[in-house]
Amino acid sequence: MQIKRAVFEISNSDVSKCPKERIPEYAFIGRSNVGKSSLINMLTNQKKLAKTSGTPGKTQLINHFRINDNWFLVDLPGYGYARVSKKVKRTFQSFIKNYFSQREQLICSFVLIDSRHEPQRIDMDFMQFLGENQIPFCIIFTKADKLSPTVLKRNIATYKEKLLADSWDIFPDYFVTSSTSHEGRDQLLAFIGKINEDLRKSSNE
Ligand code: GTP
Ligand code: MG
Repeated sequence: MQIKRAVFEISNSDVSKCPKERIPEYAFIGRSNVGKSSLINMLTNQKKLAKTSGTPGKTQLINHFRINDNWFLVDLPGYGYARVSKKVKRTFQSFIKNYFSQREQLICSFVLIDSRHEPQRIDMDFMQFLGENQIPFCIIFTKADKLSPTVLKRNIATYKEKLLADSWDIFPDYFVTSSTSHEGRDQLLAFIGKINEDLRKSSNE
């Protein structure tokens, strides 16, 4: 799939105010600084469509981007931001959870994991939450450019082991990306394009 058009639509902290249109939607979620906003820029081939920063906590709202006029990419605030109070951490930003549990247009979420790091409890817990709410998700291992192929492979294998030991029967579909080298771009767009195509076919039947 080619991205021919990508435009910012709206920012919200309330899922009930998100766009009402019934078009497919895909959301990026993960720890602060994992590279969610950078990945949106990489996919859309735009430098500043989504705001990025070296300092965690840059994205604070639910941001909708309209792609090719017929689907949305959604950039979300990160979780696990160290400077957030314990209370906020415990409850997780409630609007994010509301977004996931209430957004009917959400077709698939992508949980971004920094490929350099050991598996983290907060990501496991978030995937648990998605599973319990029957929200389909894939994993994206980000910042692949920062590792050698050998270490990258080893880290992904470790992640698989941990997730399978952590009550999951199967490992979800996953992608390996780099926003600097554009690794994983074609695969991710092909995956989304295929789902959009299947949805279009089934709605015409
Ligand atoms: P929050 O909005 O704070 O939750 O963060 P985010 O997940 O949107 O991360 P963001 O895209 O702002 O990127 C955080 C930092 O990581 C920035 O300094 C990016 O330049 C850097 N970064 C993101 N993706 C990559 C990548 O694939 N490779 C490298 N080398 N750096 C990356
Ligand atoms: Mg961001």
